[in-house]
Amino acid sequence: MRVLGIETSCDETGVAIFDSEKGLLADLLYSQVSMHAEYGGVVPELASRDHIRKTLPMIREALRVSDSSPGDVDGIAYTAGPGLIGALLVGASIAKSLGLAWGIPSIGIHHMEGHLLAPMLENDPPDYPFVALLVSGGHTQLISVESPGCYELLGESRDDAAGEAFDKAAKMLGLGYPGGPLIAELANQGQKDRFVFPRPMTDRPGLDLSFSGLKTYTLNTILDLTEKSGITNQDKADIALAFQTAVVETLTIKCQRALRQSGLSSLVIAGGVSANLALRAALQSMTDSLSARLFYARAAFCTDNGAMIAYAGCQRLSAGQSEDLVINARPRWPMDTLQPIK
Ligand code: KG4
Ligand code: ZN
Repeated sequence: MRVLGIETSCDETGVAIFDSEKGLLADLLYSQVSMHAEYGGVVPELASRDHIRKTLPMIREALRVSDSSPGDVDGIAYTAGPGLIGALLVGASIAKSLGLAWGIPSIGIHHMEGHLLAPMLENDPPDYPFVALLVSGGHTQLISVESPGCYELLGESRDDAAGEAFDKAAKMLGLGYPGGPLIAELANQGQKDRFVFPRPMTDRPGLDLSFSGLKTYTLNTILDLTEKSGITNQDKADIALAFQTAVVETLTIKCQRALRQSGLSSLVIAGGVSANLALRAALQSMTDSLSARLFYARAAFCTDNGAMIAYAGCQRLSAGQSEDLVINARPRWPMDTLQPIK
């Protein structure tokens, strides 16, 4: 089965073609980051308009790259949520219209299911069941994945998502958007242990997380230094390292707890923050110490992309699932309400 995947939930237009026999045949990404950068974050209306401009030409290009004609495509998958409503509606309307015109089924995919399944595109994919840590700009969740499509929420952030905290801390330090990669880069020049930031909610049982206190702590540290002596570039690097270390250790403690509680021995990390090298290294040594295994996707499949939507769509369409003509776009959508795959 050959599936066209369309991702337009936020500030990246992703279009890909996945074939169940031949693998990924096309994978195109257009990032709007430079357009939103001057505003310090995503402007929803600008995002929608840009998806309108980019999606159809990218679909044409994906067909060309994969040497496919519309007649070779068996189904269309699009991100139906969660995300920015206007941006989601662009992908959903295009997917539904093409599905109707080409006489093929279409299906709305949960954006976080796309992220969660992205490591399946790699050479050594995890076996079910596993624990998944989803860490993106909008979500931080620990999920028990029993089988394809069966997701049980174990814990989640009560306030900011980990990626959102990275983005906000970067803004406080006067770095650009998105902040995660910029904090990670600056942290490389930081002096270890000059500042030690709190590890929120790690002293309490349970798998919920919280990052808003860490954000306030970061702001207060910056204000203190600024008032006392003015903040230097070295101070900023030291803060970036302390912040990143606190997020990484907090996530590592919670992942270790989730593996112990569930008795599972595979951990999958997915979403933009799973590209963070310090996080990968800390989770690698934690899983090694438990004789468990860690799985993640290449960096380009950690952040938003069309390949993960084409792959997830292929799994669901192959299992006989599809939708009628209603345009499905859901800004909020709990993952544990999804239909199992098969
Ligand atoms: O999954 P994603 O591309 O979009 C959402 O679904 O939200 O995640 C984007 C988030 C942003 O907050 C970005 O700052 C963060 O992922 N991110 C990182 C890194 N790369 C992206 N955070 C920390 N370290 C990174 N290397
Ligand atoms: Zn995402």
